[in-house]
Amino acid sequence: MTKPFNDNSEVTAISTQIEILKKHFPQCFDKHGAFMPDKLQALVSEHGTAFSKESYSLNWLGKSYARLLANENPLTFLSEDKVHNQKPENKNTENLLIKGDNLEVLKHLKSAYHEQIKMIYIDPPYNTGTDGFVYQDDRKFTVDELSRLAGIESDEAKRILDFTQSKANSHSAWLTFMYPRLYIARELLKDDGVIFISIDDNEVAQLRVLCDEIFGEQNFITEFIWKRRASSAMADNNVSTDHEYVITYQKGGLKGFQGIEKDFKSYSNPDNDPRGSWVLGDLTVGMTAAMRPNQAYDLVDPKTGKIYPFNPNRVWAFIPQSMAKMIEEGRVIFPDDTDKRPMQKRFKAELKGTYNPLSSLIIDKVGLNSEGTRQIQSLLGGNVFDYSKPASLLTTLIPQLCIESKDIIMDFFAGSGTTAHAVMDLNVESKNNYSFIMVQLPELIDKKTEAYKAGYKTIFDITKARIEKAAEKIKTEHPDYQGDLGFKIFETVPMPEGYLVDHEILKSTDPLFFNGSNLNNDQLDDLLTTWKVYDGIALTVSLNLIDLAGYSAYQHQKILYLIQSGFSHHALVILLQKLDDTDKDKAFDIERLVLFAHNFDSKHQRELKEALTHYQNKKSKNISVEFRY
Ligand SMILES: C[S@@+](CC[C@H](N)C(=O)[O-])C[C@H]1O[C@@H](n2cnc3c(N)ncnc32)[C@H](O)[C@@H]1O
Repeated sequence: MTKPFNDNSEVTAISTQIEILKKHFPQCFDKHGAFMPDKLQALVSEHGTAFSKESYSLNWLGKSYARLLANENPLTFLSEDKVHNQKPENKNTENLLIKGDNLEVLKHLKSAYHEQIKMIYIDPPYNTGTDGFVYQDDRKFTVDELSRLAGIESDEAKRILDFTQSKANSHSAWLTFMYPRLYIARELLKDDGVIFISIDDNEVAQLRVLCDEIFGEQNFITEFIWKRRASSAMADNNVSTDHEYVITYQKGGLKGFQGIEKDFKSYSNPDNDPRGSWVLGDLTVGMTAAMRPNQAYDLVDPKTGKIYPFNPNRVWAFIPQSMAKMIEEGRVIFPDDTDKRPMQKRFKAELKGTYNPLSSLIIDKVGLNSEGTRQIQSLLGGNVFDYSKPASLLTTLIPQLCIESKDIIMDFFAGSGTTAHAVMDLNVESKNNYSFIMVQLPELIDKKTEAYKAGYKTIFDITKARIEKAAEKIKTEHPDYQGDLGFKIFETVPMPEGYLVDHEILKSTDPLFFNGSNLNNDQLDDLLTTWKVYDGIALTVSLNLIDLAGYSAYQHQKILYLIQSGFSHHALVILLQKLDDTDKDKAFDIERLVLFAHNFDSKHQRELKEALTHYQNKKSKNISVEFRY
C-alpha cells in the first residue's frame, strides 16, 4: 500500500524510541522483534555502569497521549510568504518567523534543525487560571485507536479523550501540552545547547520534574530567580510574590556558562609593582583558632618589628612558613596602626579567570516587567501586548552561551518577539551573527482591545510588526550596520483534502483515492517546502531551479525534486545529459531523486527507473530514486 510521506498509522507512544533502541542495540531484540530487557541490563553492567534501584517518575492522565503526540509526524504543510521573503532585506536572511501551532512547527523542523539550535528560550502560558490557557488540539482519535497507539486500557483512553476535548486547564492538561513540545525541543538542541523556560509558581514544581524526565536530572543547571515588579501586589495572604523563575537545563555537553566579566576598576599600581596592577585582599580566613591552630599566631612586620595579634575567630590565611614567603615576595602590606589588619596584594595578572560566576539571582542585571511593556510601547506606539519580557532578560542570558558567531536562538512561544529583538540588538553590539527562529500562533486578538483597534488581528501580526520595527530602529541608529536584519516568514497550512487519509479507512478502499495530480501550483510549492525541511534542508535555503526542457525541477546539493506534472521524454533526456555532464557542471552532482508520485503515471515511472538503472550501470554511480506520496 502506498502511504504518504508523513504517514502516522504505525506511530505509537514508543515507536520512535524502540527504533532508536533497535538501531543501537539490535542484540537486545529477538527474531520476532520482542525486546529483551535483561540483555540490555547485562550489556550496560558489563561496563561498570552504576545502577540505581531508587527511581521515581512523574505520572499524569494524558502522559501516554503526550508521548504519542511527540512521536507523530506533522499533519500540516509548510507554506512560504513569497512576497515578504522576496524583499531585498529578507532574500538572504538566516532568520525565521513561523506562524502556526508550535507543536506542528517543531515537528516540521525536527530533521533540518536536528541538533542545530544553541539556545532555546520559551515563555509558555503559565496556567495561572486567568491567562487563557486551555488544552486543545485537533487530533481525532477514537477510544480504540488511542488505546492501541498509546498502549493503554480503553478506560484510560476514554478519560484522556474526555479531557483533551473539553478545554481543560488542569495540571494534567498543561503537562500534556508541554511534554511533546519540550521533547522535540531537546532533539533540536545542539550537544552543548541550553533551554531556558520562564515560569511562575503555578507550574514550576510540575515543570521541574517534567524537565528532569525529558532532559535528565543531571542536566539541570539552575532555577534563575527574576524580580518582575518593584511595587508589591495586593494578596489575600499578605505575601506579594514579586519574582518568577527561569528554569535552565542543558542538553548535556555544555562546558559551562561564560559568567560575568570581572570589574577591574578597583585595580591600580600606585607603587609601580613590576607584577602590574593589584587590589588589597583579605589575609585571614573564616576559621577559629581551635579549627586551625597552626594559623593562629602573632604576625610580625620584619621591617618595623610591629606585632599584629591573630583574631581567634578569624585566623591568618597561611601557615607561618607560607606567610614568611608572602612577606619576602612583597605581597603583604602592613598598616602603621597595629589595631588594623595586614592585607595581601592580589595581582590582576595572577587571577585564575577574568569572569565571575553568573548569580542565579538575576535581579540587578535584568529589568522588570515594566521595562518589557515600555519597550513594546515605544516601538509599536501603544499597549498592544501584556506579556512582553524585558529584552535585558535575553541580552543577559544569550551571551552566557552563544560563543560561535553563527549560533541559532529559538523561541517557540514568541509573543511580541522580544527574543528576536534581543538577538538583533546583541548582534549590533557584539558584531556576531546569531540568527533566530521564532514561532507564534496566529491567536486571535479580542476586538475590544487597543491592539485590535491599532490594526492587529492576531498575536502573530504583533510579533511580525515588533521585529520589523526593531530592525528599522537599528537601521536608523546604526546606518552603517551591515548585519542581518531581515527574516523569512513561513506558516503551517492544512494539507490538501484527503492527503493524509485515515489508514483504517484506506485499507478497505482504493489506496490511491487521493488524486495528487489535482494540486495547484501553490499547493505544489507548499509540498516542496515541506519536503525540503523533511529531507534536512534548512528553511532559509532557496532551492535552485533546474530547467529540463521546459520542465522545472528543484535542486539542493545532491538532491533533485521532480514535483510538477508534465515530465516528458524530452525532460528525461535532458536530465540524463545533465547527469552525464557532472564532470563539467560540478554543481549538478545529484545522488538522490525525489518525485511526487501522483504526477508520474506508471509508464513514466517505469521509463525513468529503467533509464536511471541503465545510466547507473554504465557510470557505476548510485542515484537513489524515491517516488514519494
Ligand atoms: C507569555 S507569551 C510570550 C511573551 C514573550 N516572551 C514576549 O516577550 O513577548 C506566550 C505566547 O505563546 C503563544 N502561544 C501559546 N500557545 C502556543 C502554541 N501552541 N504555539 C505557538 N504559540 C503559542 C501565545 O499566543 C503567546 O503569544
